[in-house]
Amino acid sequence: MKSIQAEVEAVDGWLNPEEGRLLYRLARRCKGRGAIVEIGSWKGKSTIWLSNGSLAGSHAKVHAIDPHTGSPEHSEMFGKVWTFEEFQRNIEQAGVTEVVVPHVDFSTAVAKTFSESVELIFVDGLHEYEGVRDDFEAWFPKVVNGGWMAFHDTTCWPGVLNVVVNSVFKSRRFRKIGFRRSIVYAEKVAENTFVERVGNRIMLALFLLHAWSERFVWRLVHNYLDCGPTRAFVAYIKRKRQLRSVPAPMGSERVGAP
Ligand SMILES: C[S@@+](CC[C@H](N)C(=O)[O-])C[C@H]1O[C@@H](n2cnc3c(N)ncnc32)[C@H](O)[C@@H]1O
Repeated sequence: MKSIQAEVEAVDGWLNPEEGRLLYRLARRCKGRGAIVEIGSWKGKSTIWLSNGSLAGSHAKVHAIDPHTGSPEHSEMFGKVWTFEEFQRNIEQAGVTEVVVPHVDFSTAVAKTFSESVELIFVDGLHEYEGVRDDFEAWFPKVVNGGWMAFHDTTCWPGVLNVVVNSVFKSRRFRKIGFRRSIVYAEKVAENTFVERVGNRIMLALFLLHAWSERFVWRLVHNYLDCGPTRAFVAYIKRKRQLRSVPAPMGSERVGAP
């Protein structure tokens, strides 16, 4: 997995390595009972993790759905967005083209004509409540029982959090719910048992605590610590470290120095 991590490090995106490794494991354990679907590919970071997992397992196709025009927050940040060519280049460079099926379109439009069963879906497209809810409603019926749904950015986007709380944690159709950093994942079942429902509620309490602490740390870093004096201090420490690692010029060693 280290080589995949090195590979994706150069790819622009928001997925962190811990989340990437989770996607890899979820994709690797697919048994070939359906396709792998990704909603929101951007430049391919999560696609590469999922595809490598698939290649280490059942070689299921990874349907990478994205209009490649960015989400509203990206347009606000970067203006006009077009990521398809860079996505394709990154997929080729990672050597996973054989399992990736790109769909340059919106997820709900693709859902209308997508007739295959789905064994794993990773949802990372729109992040407002209505958008995530629409993705959930369009794709949940296609996921086989025993298949998995995973959602990114559940801790920092209230809309995503609300959807997973109401439609996953409190649902009778999921069990084995887990979370890693900002991803919540769960196995779909015909109907969960009473014991599984109790387990889901316990996980919900733990998850809400986790989401709160993630947001607290994020706010602390971005609102309070990311200011001029702290940045200057960090730069000073970095510079000191660099100077320490530069070898002394020839002949300048002190004789007898320890
Ligand atoms: C946060 S980025 C995805 C990041 C990506 N998963 C990664 O690991 O780098 C969200 C992506 O969702 C895409 N998107 C926005 N609306 C969408 C929709 N309705 N259906 C599918 N993708 C959508 C955007 O174009 C954007 O590339």
